[in-house]
Amino acid sequence: MPRPEKHVFVCTQNRPHGHPRGSCAASGCAEVMNEFMLEIQRRTLFEKIGLTNTGCMGPCGVGPSVLVYPEGVMYGKVGKADVKTIIEQHLLGGTPVEALKMPVEVW
Ligand code: FES
Repeated sequence: MPRPEKHVFVCTQNRPHGHPRGSCAASGCAEVMNEFMLEIQRRTLFEKIGLTNTGCMGPCGVGPSVLVYPEGVMYGKVGKADVKTIIEQHLLGGTPVEALKMPVEVW
């Protein structure tokens, strides 16, 4: 298996309803994860982009959280419609999407 150029981690943590920390599951991460899978498949990017679902990465209140390495850029409040932008601008184009980055006090 070749080493991917970029590796995307999507938080898919769930917590019980009413939990004080909330969760990325409650804010729609499943849709985001699914959209990454579909776009990577559609564009045949399996060898270029790694995709892994993770547990909590910390900033639960501003999820769904998406972390991209090797840069260590974390995105917050990512929606299904943001996935194409992240793929085209950051993963393929090399320029992180400033408008979706976590606030500096968070990450
Ligand atoms: S639940 Fe996703 S960052 Fe904590």
